[in-house]
Amino acid sequence: MTRMNRRQFIGVGLGVGVASFFPAPAQIARGANEKVRLGSISCGGRANELLSGFKSFPDVDIVALCDPDTARVDATKAKYDYVQKTFTDCRKLLDDKDIDAVIVATCDHWHCLAAAWAMQAGKDVYVEKPLAHNIYEGIQVVNAARKFKRVCQVGMQQRSDLMQAEIKKFLHEDKAIGEIKMARVNHYMPRNPIGKTDNPLELPATLDKNMWLGPAEDVELHRNALHYDWHWAWNTGTGEMGNWGVHVLDDCRNNVLLDCVEFPKRLIAGGVRAAYNDDGETPNIHFVYFDSGSIPVVLGVSTLAMKNSKSAGDHPGPGSGYIAYCEGGRLEGQRGSAKAFDADGKVIKEFKGNSGQREHQRNFIDAVLSQDSSILNAEVAIGKATSEWCNMANIAFRCGKPMTEESAATVAQAAQGAEQIWGEVLESAQKTLKTHDISMINSDVMVSDMLSFDAEKRQFVGPDAEKANSFIKRKYRNAEFTMPEFDV
Ligand SMILES: NC(=O)c1ccc[n+]([C@@H]2O[C@H](COP(=O)([O-])OP(=O)(O)OC[C@H]3O[C@@H](n4cnc5c(N)ncnc54)[C@H](O)[C@@H]3O)[C@@H](O)[C@H]2O)c1
Repeated sequence: MTRMNRRQFIGVGLGVGVASFFPAPAQIARGANEKVRLGSISCGGRANELLSGFKSFPDVDIVALCDPDTARVDATKAKYDYVQKTFTDCRKLLDDKDIDAVIVATCDHWHCLAAAWAMQAGKDVYVEKPLAHNIYEGIQVVNAARKFKRVCQVGMQQRSDLMQAEIKKFLHEDKAIGEIKMARVNHYMPRNPIGKTDNPLELPATLDKNMWLGPAEDVELHRNALHYDWHWAWNTGTGEMGNWGVHVLDDCRNNVLLDCVEFPKRLIAGGVRAAYNDDGETPNIHFVYFDSGSIPVVLGVSTLAMKNSKSAGDHPGPGSGYIAYCEGGRLEGQRGSAKAFDADGKVIKEFKGNSGQREHQRNFIDAVLSQDSSILNAEVAIGKATSEWCNMANIAFRCGKPMTEESAATVAQAAQGAEQIWGEVLESAQKTLKTHDISMINSDVMVSDMLSFDAEKRQFVGPDAEKANSFIKRKYRNAEFTMPEFDV
């Protein structure tokens, strides 16, 4: 594919050592038989899944691989031995004018910076969910997409399952089970603890630590494994909320709220990391009430198995999915399927779908080839919004104070219009903890105030706003890896 024939230097506040090497956004000429030349920023587990999907498309050439861990680069290159270009520094990959588009499937803390740099360098981007490690970066990366006029798809692949359109028609157009009154989002799936270590994790000799850290703070890592378990440290991850929570919340935002609400108006959240005895920081039980301004949404996430059980908690509906409670019944949706029930609990309609995986990747390539972002199923602004809900749920947890009898009573009454389903979420958490002899009224169980968000100012306001606002943007390790601001 012919990319741009004009390179020019731009200076939009990129960090040290980067700005002057990126070209201006590409002027792209595409012919009928052109191929998208794709590079992968990450050779981790997800990047390999995506690569195998993109490889199956006849109009995609995988041309470059990058990971700060050369062991991972080598293992991936062994599967794609024809790939000539390998890197440990993604800036070098982005400098290559013969790359049209990139996958960003790094740890969460790198998503937005790598995606923004890529778009500044004129590449189109398929970036994994959650779009953003924090609210500020999500905003900047959308600005980057607009400023550089790039195609940017977020890896929320359920959006590409055709079943979602049928569900939306059923719920909203046909109103087959009446008005939607409230929604519940579930993710109840156990995970193991990640280890508790006296000494910091020894990093592999194959790792370029500076590039792995990027914007993250250089702190000792305490856990058994470097890769994957970064999810459970705030410095690099977003917990289960940003891992699986984002998928199920996205289905709810898509099918129940029709993407009408960018930011919830208010939220209250609580949770705990209980019974694991490990060095992870993110909660293994997390409960949230979102006041969306329209349909109230409650969310329960648990990765803590009940003692002597494989269940991570009692819940109605799918273990990972959502329930739309309507006047005349309910709809239960999950990845690949959904069922509608009438008011008597009888199944009245079934929806069959798939994960949307290959379709989502195909949708990205079609948008790149046509340079038409409007056909994307999870355009970056959509990815940003769902990611923000997860960021806010994490902020509320991190603003939490130990649960007392008094705060327990307040939290129990918080969910206006969704009292019953909120009570069920809280009871489930309480029951799971009880199997481990842990009380909900406990200095380890955190609960926030009701936090209010001013969508225009993009700031929390009211009780505990100062603390909540301190989590909107991360602390950057140095200027080199600071997220640039993009004016549009
Ligand atoms: N959409 C989905 O269904 C889905 C599924 C799994 C994972 N994911 C997402 O994909 C991302 C990666 O998850 P994973 O399971 O592959 O984790 P992982 O730990 O296996 O892989 C992350 C990789 O990124 C690399 N990396 C870190 N900094 C980098 C940089 N600057 N440049 C290039 N590579 C860098 C790491 O060295 C590691 O190899 C996560 O954000 C996760 O949420 C999405």
